[in-house]
Formats: sequence, structure tokens, C-alpha cells
Amino acid sequence: MSEFELSAGVYSPNPLSIVGGEGAVVWDAAGEKYIDCVGGHGVSSVGHSNKKIAAAVKNAWTNYAFATARHPHAVREKFLEKLSEKMPFEKSKFFLSNSGTEAVEAALKFARLATGRTKILAAKRAFHGRTFGALSATWRPEFREPFEPLVPDFDFFAFNKVESLEEKINSETAAVILEVIQGEGGVHIATQEFLDGVRKLCDKNGALLILDEVQSGVCRTGKFLALENFGAQPDIVCLAKALGGGYPIGATAFRSDLFDDKKIQGLHASTFGGNLPACAAGLAVLDFCEKENLCEKAAEDGEFLKQKLLVNPRDISGVNDFSPKIREIRGLGLMLAVEFKIPAKEIVEKLETAGILVLPTGPKTIRLLPPLVISREQLNKISAALSEILNI
Ligand SMILES: Cc1ncc(COP(=O)(O)O)c(C=O)c1O
Repeated sequence: MSEFELSAGVYSPNPLSIVGGEGAVVWDAAGEKYIDCVGGHGVSSVGHSNKKIAAAVKNAWTNYAFATARHPHAVREKFLEKLSEKMPFEKSKFFLSNSGTEAVEAALKFARLATGRTKILAAKRAFHGRTFGALSATWRPEFREPFEPLVPDFDFFAFNKVESLEEKINSETAAVILEVIQGEGGVHIATQEFLDGVRKLCDKNGALLILDEVQSGVCRTGKFLALENFGAQPDIVCLAKALGGGYPIGATAFRSDLFDDKKIQGLHASTFGGNLPACAAGLAVLDFCEKENLCEKAAEDGEFLKQKLLVNPRDISGVNDFSPKIREIRGLGLMLAVEFKIPAKEIVEKLETAGILVLPTGPKTIRLLPPLVISREQLNKISAALSEILNI
């Protein structure tokens, strides 16, 4: 029996079997190579089969026993210390888990606990995960409706419209949850005015601000956290995806004065949360990001690719000459979307034939989340293939 016959069937199947990878490239069983702009939906930032991460995980797996995070360990301490240097809080605390949706669940529970309130406000087009709490904050009705009733007291406001939040927020609101750049929703960037307005409204109403950096975090947008591009000040930050370099990990970071330890003890936990191979992987990822200047590289490469895609390569007058088939290119760093005037499905298939994997995000948009270690030569290949397909 095939894997698809044995699996739950929740994923739309792609028969391409990826058996190996290195850096920004993956290959199938026949040895056919692809530049990977799917990037494990944002996981593979430090590159596939990164030797540094593999060595750290192997060392942890070989030398450490399994114990839950009740028991302290030097590798977890070092990871959290290093991660806290990157958080937007004077003093940070963390809850470690295994995925993005778990990082969001913890954030929602902590927000309720800290405020004694229940109401959560999320943005239209938001994606925060598939477990019940995170799903309740996820916008797309087709994801939510089959599982209703969901968690009560969730409501939605329009992204980038302060007045829409103003209509909903009040003294019963525990938290506003927001992606600074909406990833699954099609790579939509929050405006500075909106983020400033959200913070002001949270302060005015005594609500917390949760920023979900599960997709945008770990250098993806040119800064360690996307919120740094705007100087945004949250109370809680959610991380996952790229933080483990491919090893599953989730982290909920919050300012240390959110509540005292006694209040939370025993109220939340995860058997695997903070396991040592995950912490070793996370620590190796943070080291790698620093040593390779991955944040700066993502910023520069993102600008480079945007310019390449913007300029029509066959038009010698060529400045900012959009293909007539491209409606918009948006994003920050290497979190990019290209919106076409034609259906994206055909473009995704043609790019795959040309040896480039991309994600469709909406009927006319593709999303590019390549490993941040991608080379200029590989970026050139992406823009050349797209030009060829669009016949420009
Ligand atoms: C912003 C955001 N939050 C949460 C999640 C959920 O993460 P996971 O699939 O690891 O549960 C995702 C996944 O795409 C995401 O993009």
C-alpha cells in the first residue's frame, strides 16, 4: 500500500518524493534536483542537512538521557539564555513546546491567566494553527466551520485597520493576536501605523499583545524577529518552524512580569517540550544565524530577488517594468509573495518542471520561503525561470 493510502488524507498529495537535500537544494529518488522555495513552509532557514545542527542533535541524542523540563540541563539553559538576548523584553521567560500551534496555545492560555479575561481578538486572514485554540484564532471559515463549536470568545478585526480593532476591543479583551507579516494569508505586511495603533489600543484597554512569529521569526524577514522591522512591542511572542533547523520545537516567550511563577505552576506542560535534542538544535541554529549573518543576508537577498523579479529582463529600458502578468511582489527579506494576474497553479507546475519548488498561496499568488543560505546563483535561476514561464 502507498503512503497516501495509509495516511489520514489531510494533505493535498504531491507525488514528488524528496529523499535528500543540502543547503537550498532538495532531490528526489531519481536524483532530480530542485531549488527549494517551499523551505518546509519556512522551517529550513539554515539549509537542508545542516551539518552543525545535525552534529548538535547527534551529540544530545547520544550523550543525554531523556528527562522532562522539570529537570534543569545546561544545554536548555544556554539555549534559553541565548534566545532571551533576541527577545524584545527586558527580561524574558519561555515555555518550550514542539510546534507552532502549541506555541500559540500556550500564548492564549497565558494571556487568559495573566489578565483573568477570556476574549481574544485575531485578524482577518490570520493563520495561527490547527489545534482548537489556535484554530479559533485562524480566519479561514473552511478550516474552522467543520470543527465548531470552537473555543468561545474569539472575534476578528480587519488587518491593517486600527478602527476595526477599536470597534471590538474593550475591558474584557485578554489579548490581541497578530502576525506582523501574514504568511499563510498571502504575505501581507502590517503597516507601522497599524502596529502602533494596536499597541495603543491594547494599553488603553489593559489587553496583551501576542505577536505570532512562527513563520516570520529567526531571520526570515531580515531581522531575528519581524517585529524588529517596526520596533513593535508585544507582551508575548510565539516561535517555532525555523527555530529548530528542522528539528521540531516551539517557544512561547513572554515578558517576565506577566505573572509570578506560583500562579502558573502545574497549569501547563508538555512531555516533549524543551527536550534536549530540540534545545541543542535551537542553540546550534542561533549560533549559525549569528556566524553566517543570516538576518543581514536575508534582507540583502530579499531586496536582490525583488529587484530581479521587478525588472523585465528582456526590456532594455527596464527599470521597475512589471511583467503584464504580475500584479504585485510583496514581502520582507526572504518571505516573499508574487501575485499574478493569471492562475498560480500553472506557474507552480511549470516552475517545478524547471527545477524550482514554490508554494501557492491563494489562487493567483505564489509564496517564496527559500532556505536563507540560498546563493545568488540560485536566486538568479529563480528569476530567470519565472521570466521564461511568464514569457517576458
Ligand atoms: C504564523 C503561524 N502560526 C502558527 C502556525 C502553526 O504552526 P505548526 O504547523 O507548526 O503547528 C503556522 C504554520 O504555518 C504559522 O504560519
